[in-house]
Amino acid sequence: MGEIMKVKKTAGLVGTVHIPGDKSISHRSIMLGGLADTPITITNFLHAADCWSTIGCMRALGVSVEQDDKGVLTVKGNGLYGLREPQDVLDAGNSGTTLRLLTGLLGVQPFFSVMTGDASLRKRPMGRVVTPLAKMGVRILGREQSRYAPLAINAAEQIQGIEYAMPVASAQVKSAILLAALFAKTATEITEPVPSRDHTERMFETFGIPVQRAGSAIRLEPVKRLAAPEQINVPGDISSAAFWLVAASIVPNSRLVLVNVGINPTRTGILDILIQMGADITVTNERWSGQEPVADIVVRSASLRGVTIEVEMIPRLIDEIPVLAVAALFAEGQTVVKGAEELRVKETDRLKAIALELGKMGANITETADGLSILGPQKLNHAACYSHHDHRMAMAVAVAGIAAQGVEIQESDCVKISYPDFFNVLAGLRQD
Ligand code: S3P
Repeated sequence: MGEIMKVKKTAGLVGTVHIPGDKSISHRSIMLGGLADTPITITNFLHAADCWSTIGCMRALGVSVEQDDKGVLTVKGNGLYGLREPQDVLDAGNSGTTLRLLTGLLGVQPFFSVMTGDASLRKRPMGRVVTPLAKMGVRILGREQSRYAPLAINAAEQIQGIEYAMPVASAQVKSAILLAALFAKTATEITEPVPSRDHTERMFETFGIPVQRAGSAIRLEPVKRLAAPEQINVPGDISSAAFWLVAASIVPNSRLVLVNVGINPTRTGILDILIQMGADITVTNERWSGQEPVADIVVRSASLRGVTIEVEMIPRLIDEIPVLAVAALFAEGQTVVKGAEELRVKETDRLKAIALELGKMGANITETADGLSILGPQKLNHAACYSHHDHRMAMAVAVAGIAAQGVEIQESDCVKISYPDFFNVLAGLRQD
């Protein structure tokens, strides 16, 4: 039995939160840093289990990653062609980003490697990266006709660029292809049904790799070497800020200042939707952190109303839907989420988990094939809820608890995946 966290109702949330580093960008900083031939310093790196899975894998591939007493990392790679054959199976833990992106990178290396992950990750679909990579000439074998990890990756021979229309909008798949495309003989062109987060493209530009972009189409020429920056400052993760955005909106008497939040437009769906719901949100002090825009955000309690979230919006708030469902329970009127079937293949089936766990608090949430339907406002009771070992489920349920009658969260330690300090920060903001 894992950890149980008891969270009480609160009379308000007040204070300033320094938002921890963006998970997506942290992973990419280590991977690209590991391909450079000059050392790179990474500040505001997300020291959470998922990003440490990436560090573990990159170290096993011969990249040096060191940390000082302030958590600043120094990555020393051996150049674009400098990764070395790992001596053992690479473990991505719970991290889909680590497994999928590294599959792209390892698929084009002149050596053998095997990647795996925890029980949740081994159930998540990998065919979506194996299929396009196989078209490029990458040789991968995995469980159940190469649809699931562990994945065994053979030494690459001739890797060709591809023209690929992605069936699902996924930054992980897109990034796996782009990483492989750096090493291909010819150019690669990818199109997505709806643009997904573009951190890989932006970080490529930071590393001197030209990326041509038009709408949801991307074209990349292979490169010979990277022109790495000396430093990367990782912006705060808007997906972590999302819990505070919703919590401060629905808990009366709240005012939070969220410092250093990444506001890349491919990620700000949560802001657009909360503002549409009537949230009191002010975005201030907009600035740049390398190629990524950041800002400070002030959020105060507000009366929310229901909203319909259409399929085109989903990639811009894919990870925020569990906590948005909580917002919907406190909003007046109907909230409908459409086209979100991807949530069924995240760390857990999040559509099912949201309906089930918030249901234990008395919520009436209709789970549809591709989304949710919630008529608010609803009265929630105290309950014991299960995280499903899913960090975002644990935090979403915590937000519901502080705004309602409290909650007991089973297997709460999974917050270490993306926000290890979440419960401590919460304790410091409570007004009771
Ligand atoms: C991520 C992309 C998203 C997101 C995940 C992180 C990334 O997944 O849900 O938490 O870092 O590229 P998909 O792109 O597979 O939808």
